[in-house]
Amino acid sequence: MTAEQDDLAFKALTQKISRARGVSCDAYKDKCMRRRIAVRMRARGVHTYEDYSRLLDQDAHEYELLLDALTINVTKFYRNPETWNALAKPYLADLWHARRGQVRVWSAGCASGEEPYTLAVLLCETARSAGDDAATRARVDATDVDRLSLERTRAAQYPETAFTEMPAALVRRYFTAAPPRRPLPAVQRLVHILKHDLTREPPPDPPYDLIVCRNVVIYFDRPTQERLFATFADALTPNGILLLGKVETLFGPARDRLVLQEPRERIYQKPV
Ligand SMILES: C[S@@+](CC[C@H](N)C(=O)[O-])C[C@H]1O[C@@H](n2cnc3c(N)ncnc32)[C@H](O)[C@@H]1O
Repeated sequence: MTAEQDDLAFKALTQKISRARGVSCDAYKDKCMRRRIAVRMRARGVHTYEDYSRLLDQDAHEYELLLDALTINVTKFYRNPETWNALAKPYLADLWHARRGQVRVWSAGCASGEEPYTLAVLLCETARSAGDDAATRARVDATDVDRLSLERTRAAQYPETAFTEMPAALVRRYFTAAPPRRPLPAVQRLVHILKHDLTREPPPDPPYDLIVCRNVVIYFDRPTQERLFATFADALTPNGILLLGKVETLFGPARDRLVLQEPRERIYQKPV
């Protein structure tokens, strides 16, 4: 098969997946899609995109397995501790003091929930320091495109290995003692879980004071990333914060609208 034929077969396959499952495959980097599809092809012992396409026709469950492979779900509580420490003080504390009403947070691409529950814990801590009640002032929208990830977020049961980066005092204060650990009701109550596709849908319930989107846009192609960054800038309140993953960088028009406050931690802020 020539490279051109291979490209055509790949394009036909991704268009078919997009049509069948309503995911915008063309928003993802080709290299990333090819690698993930190759994983499923190997698992099913087929060697060409055409054969894999036929297999999808015969076996609807394979679509679920493929979508699972496409959405990489690695995550942890308090992943990259220095980032959360930098966010908590001064940014989260300042937001808490500046806002009279609700402090609204969006964890976009939340995987199995470790990130939004980390945010809920930090909001509880911020409220505690301010002598406030988090439940009445904070809300975290936790969204992901992957159904299985959202089920895990709802189930909210985590093995010890999920906590290796979180300070032990926070684990003791905000999670049940016996494994599998669960966030306490005061933490869970802050988190609202919903299915959402970042490549196709507007933000679920703007405006937000803090948008956390880490290790997600890395899989998207440049035009999709640029569009998404502009959407985030629109969705933030004045003084609102955008937190990206450690290897992700803002570009395009949004770069002129948000100020890079912490270069190492990828903390951006919208000017007033
Ligand atoms: C590597 S995880 C990142 C989890 C967490 N944000 C973190 O940094 O620990 C990437 C997540 O992005 C989600 N994702 C991929 N494409 C998406 C899309 N189009 N819309 C929303 N979420 C998406 C995946 O399902 C996966 O849960």
